[in-house]
Amino acid sequence: MSNKKIIMSGMRPTGKLHLGHYLGVLTNWEKLQHEYDCYYAVADWHALTTKFDKTETLKNDINDVVLDWLACGINPEIATIYIQSQVPAICELHLYLSMITPQNWVERDPTLKDMTRALKLKDGGETNFSQSVSYGLIGYPVLMSADILGFHADLVPVGIDQVAHIEITRDIARRFNNIYKTDFLKEPEPKLTQIPLLQGVDGQKMGKSFKNDIKISDDETTTTKKIMQCITDRSRARKDDPGHPENCEVAFKYYKAFADNETLETVAKECTQGCRGCADCKRQLAQIINDKFKPIRTKRQEFVQNQKLVDEIIKNGNDKANLQANKVVKEIKNIIKMY
Ligand code: TRP
Ligand code: SF4
Repeated sequence: MSNKKIIMSGMRPTGKLHLGHYLGVLTNWEKLQHEYDCYYAVADWHALTTKFDKTETLKNDINDVVLDWLACGINPEIATIYIQSQVPAICELHLYLSMITPQNWVERDPTLKDMTRALKLKDGGETNFSQSVSYGLIGYPVLMSADILGFHADLVPVGIDQVAHIEITRDIARRFNNIYKTDFLKEPEPKLTQIPLLQGVDGQKMGKSFKNDIKISDDETTTTKKIMQCITDRSRARKDDPGHPENCEVAFKYYKAFADNETLETVAKECTQGCRGCADCKRQLAQIINDKFKPIRTKRQEFVQNQKLVDEIIKNGNDKANLQANKVVKEIKNIIKMY
């Protein structure tokens, strides 16, 4: 038994991940795996809460997420990579937790409110309770609590939008301990990921539905084509007009995310002096990004060529996750005095 603290986190299987995921989540997960016992889940049950009717691509999307994790250095020898739905004990725990969770706790959850509002709008109207807000979706934070408490996690690295769910998890853990007169469940702490907000090439939020994202797995030509679409300093008409890097809406922000300080200074200086054209500037940016992701993309391709190995990694991860969750959930059932 290791005495390292336990980390649990997850991602919904949205398919191929983009550079925002890389900077915001994956570099962080990669670091954490060296210090903690990490459980990283592909949350396919959570995907079902809103996409129960769009399951044709689910298996493939899960696989793409795992490929991106592996390519970005999540190491299955030290971290546990698994698929949420392959750990049935979590489903069982979700049921037990749902019994002790007051309905108004989930109804108050602001992130859940945002999700249901978005669905209702899509369905045409706030007033009609939408058919697409299911019983399962209302349980979203409870299912997440089961993910976390089922692994006895100390820390949960997440972005700010997920913190409300962790608060409920802490409340549920405390309530469980009170009701069953135990101190078995730990109250997990959120570990805020400083998400360096990487926008899409059009300056909007980066996301696959906006078609403005650059994927970790994009090839060099695609990456360059997308980078050339980045918005720059709109007040600049000609190449020898002095530019304003701080008003350069997207391109310079990408430089800040991916270039070294020396390059950054040169770009800022030449831009300000009007001796750097935006097209050339973006071509150089594309080069920097392509160089940076070259080893990652090569590694991903190697895994793509060896799906058997990927399947084995997932299988081993599922086994390890089951071992831990079964142990925790068994104890929880003892405490509740279930059969
Ligand atoms: N809800 C999280 C998200 O959308 C994903 C997730 C599922 C998760 N289970 C989790 C995150 C457990 C942290 C811990 O980003
Ligand atoms: Fe942005 Fe580069 Fe154009 Fe300056 S030269 S406005 S930094 S793209």
